[in-house]
Amino acid sequence: MNEITLTVNGSVARVVVPARRLLSDCLRHDLGLTGTHVGCEHGVCGCCTVLLDGDPIRSCLMLAVTADGHEITTVEGLAGPGGELSPVQRAFHESHALQCGFCTPGFLCTVTALLRDNPAPTEAEALEGVSGNLCRCTGYQNIVKAVHRAAELTAEETGPDDDEAVR
Ligand code: FES
Ligand code: FES
Repeated sequence: MNEITLTVNGSVARVVVPARRLLSDCLRHDLGLTGTHVGCEHGVCGCCTVLLDGDPIRSCLMLAVTADGHEITTVEGLAGPGGELSPVQRAFHESHALQCGFCTPGFLCTVTALLRDNPAPTEAEALEGVSGNLCRCTGYQNIVKAVHRAAELTAEETGPDDDEAVR
């Protein structure tokens, strides 16, 4: 067994895990963060996507011990401190970008990182950005709409008006 330390959604967690424990299983079973979904468990579907030091990774392809000392954000960590939805979460809600919702946590993490790196993606960039996540319900059209809506909401939140308010 191995004792590891993870910073998950801003809180430090010490966990004792077997060497072969997947990060996805550690998050779900050891830490109770069941928002991270497991679909294929071999790196194809993207349902298990979380942010590792800000970058999206498939948590079913990483051993928990490999994540020792790193910062992880799961879907539970995307909302604000008062539980207010993030721009990406609001955009998915407004755009009806989900049906069964099984794939949604992975998409939310992927799109959060996508918009951080490219705040105003083109249609092609938005499609490319979510192409590593599989959704068997929606047909992706509303998901791509949600990416653009999230970009708008993020720009509104961080726009010049906020700068004015700070001054
Ligand atoms: S469960 Fe990890 S990629 Fe499918
Ligand atoms: S909403 Fe059902 S798999 Fe995407």
